[in-house]
Amino acid sequence: MAEQAELILEGKSYHLPVVTGTENEKAIDIKNLRDLTGYITLDSGYKNTGATLSSITFLDGEQGILRYRGYPIEQLAERSDFVEVAYLLIYGELPTKQQLDQFSENIKMHTLIHEDMRRFYSAFPTFAHPMGVVSSVTCALSTFYPESLNPHRGEEKINLTITRLLAKFPTIAAWAYKNSVGHPVVYPKNKLGYVENFLNMMFSMPSDDYEIDPVIVNALDKLLILHADHEQNCSTSTVRLAGSSQANLYSSIAAGITALWGPLHGGANQEVIEMLDRIKEEGGSLDKWIAKAKDKNDPFRLMGFGHRVYKNFDPRAKIIKKACDDVLNRLGIKDPVLEIAKKLEEVALNDEYFIERKLYPNVDFYSGIIYRAMGIPKDMFTVLFAVGRLPGWIAQWKEMTANKEPIGRPRQIYIGPKVRDYVNIADR
Ligand code: CMC
Repeated sequence: MAEQAELILEGKSYHLPVVTGTENEKAIDIKNLRDLTGYITLDSGYKNTGATLSSITFLDGEQGILRYRGYPIEQLAERSDFVEVAYLLIYGELPTKQQLDQFSENIKMHTLIHEDMRRFYSAFPTFAHPMGVVSSVTCALSTFYPESLNPHRGEEKINLTITRLLAKFPTIAAWAYKNSVGHPVVYPKNKLGYVENFLNMMFSMPSDDYEIDPVIVNALDKLLILHADHEQNCSTSTVRLAGSSQANLYSSIAAGITALWGPLHGGANQEVIEMLDRIKEEGGSLDKWIAKAKDKNDPFRLMGFGHRVYKNFDPRAKIIKKACDDVLNRLGIKDPVLEIAKKLEEVALNDEYFIERKLYPNVDFYSGIIYRAMGIPKDMFTVLFAVGRLPGWIAQWKEMTANKEPIGRPRQIYIGPKVRDYVNIADR
């Protein structure tokens, strides 16, 4: 007999189906719970709620495992590249050489953004945070490609929307940076690879060609791979939730970008560097900051520490830590902030508060340091996270759409006032 969970409520016994995943993860299927019992489940922050069955990413937070479509993140970071990983996430299998060449060619054909969209950039103030610019322009793609509004318009057309988005996103991101510094935008160069092209659009100037350093290209490629998917995190769940209303791909991804922006999610990479800079400016002593992080009455948190699902170590942080050392050594950069980061890591890892709560450095603790070494400004760190996460968001949107998942609509337990009569303003 199929495995079942027994639930006893008000003396009555109910049997609920148990669902088992490929890696033996277990869930109790409560779809019919309310119909059967009148009860719902309550789980704020969805800490223990499975929202979907997915075949994209496997993550075991206790053991520090992360796999895309079954392939360990360590192998992909070492041996693959970002465009191949994007293909793998979106289409489910590693591509043949011919498939990969075709995929890369298709992306190269769509890197330009419509000339009229350039005008958006001049309308934003130069002090605009690039995440606001990038999410707005991404959503605006749906206005230039209205055929994208129907998410069920056939595989070939959906693939074209996906290609356009993957191709244009680095251009959208790099132009947000150029706008923020008041420089002219740099058009994509299609003879360059995905990461080279992005770096060229970021750093090349009409007066000066940018020399693309392979060390930086490799490190950035690795970082993008590490960020490419992370199953049902905050921004991905947002993409799926927006997409579940049959919103188009561009607007669903724009919703994901705004969710990523927050400092508890992708925005943490910028916050980490700002925190380390502040510690440095105030003399480098860590005691005050550790005490603040532990103080329940102080909202301060040690940015770059802790994770909703990794309670042992973040496997991405392990890889990135090494990449960070490599980049700084190869570029000969001595960053005093790195010294502070290393000290902070050591102090926190030996402190009872952090040990008890299983708070370890996460991917964002190191990514900001690498971005800074590459010359990427702080405001752009979270945009880089978005460039990396894009294939994961697309894959999750595509899976949800193909599976015709129902509209996402959680319930609640109401704790407001009981029914009461309206009182005229003169009588209040
Ligand atoms: N500094 C100090 N205390 C912390 C921290 C931190 N960074 N993170 C968690 N805690 C404490 C928290 O106060 C709570 O303590 P207590 O049990 O005494 O109330 C306990 O640890 C559990 O915290 P939580 O908020 O219930 O954990 P969560 O799973 O809801 O939150 C998190 C996870 C990532 C939002 C949180 O650890 C955090 O705010 N970290 C700092 C922000 C950060 O680095 N975010 C990037 C995450 S990695 C990139 C990504 O994938 O998004």
